[in-house]
Amino acid sequence: MKLILLGPPGAGKGTQAKMLVQELGIPQISTGDMLREAVKAGSPMGMKAKTYMDSGELVPDEVVVGIVEERIQQPDCADGFMLDGFPRTTAQADALTEMLEKKGLAIDHVICIQVDNDELIRRLSGRRTCRNCMAPYHVEFNPPQKEGVCDKCGGELYQRDDDREEAIRARLKTYDAQTRPLIEYYEQRGLLRPVDGSGRVEEVFGRIRQVLR
Ligand code: AP5
Repeated sequence: MKLILLGPPGAGKGTQAKMLVQELGIPQISTGDMLREAVKAGSPMGMKAKTYMDSGELVPDEVVVGIVEERIQQPDCADGFMLDGFPRTTAQADALTEMLEKKGLAIDHVICIQVDNDELIRRLSGRRTCRNCMAPYHVEFNPPQKEGVCDKCGGELYQRDDDREEAIRARLKTYDAQTRPLIEYYEQRGLLRPVDGSGRVEEVFGRIRQVLR
């Protein structure tokens, strides 16, 4: 199965993707995680991406399209994959359609997780992420058993640079201007599966399962 997880920053794409990996046995391809890895590694591409990410802007299409094109060639994607945070512009969506068509493939479902802005800000400002395995936590809604330590791998939890209030507001604006149009884009293609992203993590997961059934 080939899925796209669409939704604003903080909607729960990463959280749900990690649960879907277990359920479906297909890899999560998170462009945000891959870009943060490049920043951590200090590569020239990572350094360039960091300036966009910290200010809440999108990294240029050609950079992200290149990363995804390379990733989906890997053997673990042969039976499908789940794109988390890609595409984010219509140019990226067109590039994705084209790269899949070349292989005789197509997206099956676009799961669009919908959450209101006040809740998004609450979720992002309290988020903590594992430096090692990228597992997402929340100081209030999903705290780790031991403060600052990942339950899964013992890694250190940190607050992302783009989870400061000013950057969060910029990311929400960027989403409205550049990514929200993809809802109509995929609706017109009969692929859009809207999912209410409010409520507990497990409730949202139940709704996604329902949609995929
Ligand atoms: P990216 O890392 O993709 O960030 P994002 O889309 O802004 O999404 P988030 O990771 O912030 O949120 P999420 O929806 O995954 O929510 P999560 O599950 O963590 O991108 C970062 C940056 O990289 C971009 O700004 C851009 O610069 C660049 N970039 C990435 N992809 C790009 C692309 N394709 N093109 C160009 N640039 C790109 O949940 C959030 C919090 O809420 C967590 O604390 C979690 O524990 C909590 N939570 C989750 N679900 C619930 C729930 N149901 N109830 C309560 N709390 C919940």
